[in-house]
Amino acid sequence: MSNHHSHSALEHEHEEIHAALHRALALSGETGAAARVLATLLKPHFEKEELYATPALSVLPEVARGQVPANVREIATATETLKAELSQMLTEHVAILEAANRMGVAARQEGQAEAAELAANLKHHALVEEEVVYPAAVLVGEVLKCRV
Ligand SMILES: [Fe+2]
Ligand SMILES: [Fe+2]
Repeated sequence: MSNHHSHSALEHEHEEIHAALHRALALSGETGAAARVLATLLKPHFEKEELYATPALSVLPEVARGQVPANVREIATATETLKAELSQMLTEHVAILEAANRMGVAARQEGQAEAAELAANLKHHALVEEEVVYPAAVLVGEVLKCRV
């Protein structure tokens, strides 16, 4: 999932989620079945986030200090795509959280503590994205428009 950008907090969280999901995929029963549904929803969603939001997030501290990053054009393209895809990505969160919830219910019934924790972590992850990550990335794009 890493790209040529510096390794961001978002990518790091995605890797942790992927690692936990990978272990859940190996489980039998309803928990494993629900994890497999979740995995098919998460992969393309994470890829979009890392392509469209990561470039802006990687320069957020710089932009907050009033600087103009070197790769402004690349960031602008990414944030414009993020804005265009945003409602679709929020819809994906609804589907992802439904699948995570089903996995969480199965995990609690089957005594799979780590998979239950993953379901809770995913809910928090999506909430932080909706309240902080996506809006911050969009704002970086807007601010940079005024600085070039
Ligand atoms: Fe994410
Ligand atoms: Fe997300």
